[in-house]
Amino acid sequence: MQATLPFPAERPLPYVKYSGEPEFSADRHLDLGQPKKILSLKDLGYSDNQIANCPSIFGVSSAFKILSDEGLAIMREICLKMYDNRNESVGTGINRLGSYCRGAGYRSSFIRSFCDSPELAEHLSKIADVTLARHSVPAVACGVNYAPEDIRNAVDTWHTDSVAFDIVMMLSDPGKIEGGEFQYFHGTKEEGQDILGISGEEGKDVELPTERVTTIPFPAAGYGFLQQGNMIFHRACRLHKKAERMTMIPSFVVTPETANDATNSVNMAGWDDPGITAELTRHEAWRASARLKQLVENVSLHDDDSKLVNDIDKALGSLMAFRNRIKEKSK
Ligand SMILES: [Fe+2]
Repeated sequence: MQATLPFPAERPLPYVKYSGEPEFSADRHLDLGQPKKILSLKDLGYSDNQIANCPSIFGVSSAFKILSDEGLAIMREICLKMYDNRNESVGTGINRLGSYCRGAGYRSSFIRSFCDSPELAEHLSKIADVTLARHSVPAVACGVNYAPEDIRNAVDTWHTDSVAFDIVMMLSDPGKIEGGEFQYFHGTKEEGQDILGISGEEGKDVELPTERVTTIPFPAAGYGFLQQGNMIFHRACRLHKKAERMTMIPSFVVTPETANDATNSVNMAGWDDPGITAELTRHEAWRASARLKQLVENVSLHDDDSKLVNDIDKALGSLMAFRNRIKEKSK
């Protein structure tokens, strides 16, 4: 059985496919280190109940080495080239991300293989203490963020992610960047959202109390950190001076496919990346079909109707919520 969905055979039409890239090799291009520090969801103030609903108590780590020097040089060159084919900054991009490439794996086979690397997934699984696999939604499996053209804007405002686990990997020399710090709120997302007066995953470019904000330092390019991104309230600050600031944000799903899935397809259905709703349909259908299969195996002739209704709802709930969202959107 595959740990995650294969990438689709098709490619969204606006995305340019690059050729002539080196082949990704985990031996040569990865140099996986260990984080020196890990903060749990408990450390951030989450209750036992909230933690029980998460796949792991892991919260956020310090940055650790991910790419070898050779891997970094190749990755940086591809991401510089891909800037010209970045996504249109509309949809959620209007209020949050300045400049980005979603679905970078459609453009670059090197990036695709890096994000798909079992060695990387295995390493991150050990850190997070849960089994992770490359995210089944290609838009978020391989994302790249750039600094906005107008540096008065934040690279990314306060928000939580629409996926449970992601790494934020610095590709530019942090020594040459003034500002642009990656920060997280030392508290629960609800507390952070309350202070800012926002809800959901919406971003907002305002300040939280500085004593509760932590900056994650990147020792060098090629380093990244792991977070349970839907539980960590975080942002990337504005630059003080125009500079290259590229980060790669590969996302991961929790496996097996019957595991609780925090992927927020209802929110992501509002993104306007080409092919995103079809990608989300694949994802939700994949997870729902695994839950239905489990239901077939577990249903008992002694189950009463209310249990059966509950089990059917559990199997189909997130697929149907997503279906209703795109139906509403298409009106
Ligand atoms: Fe984020």
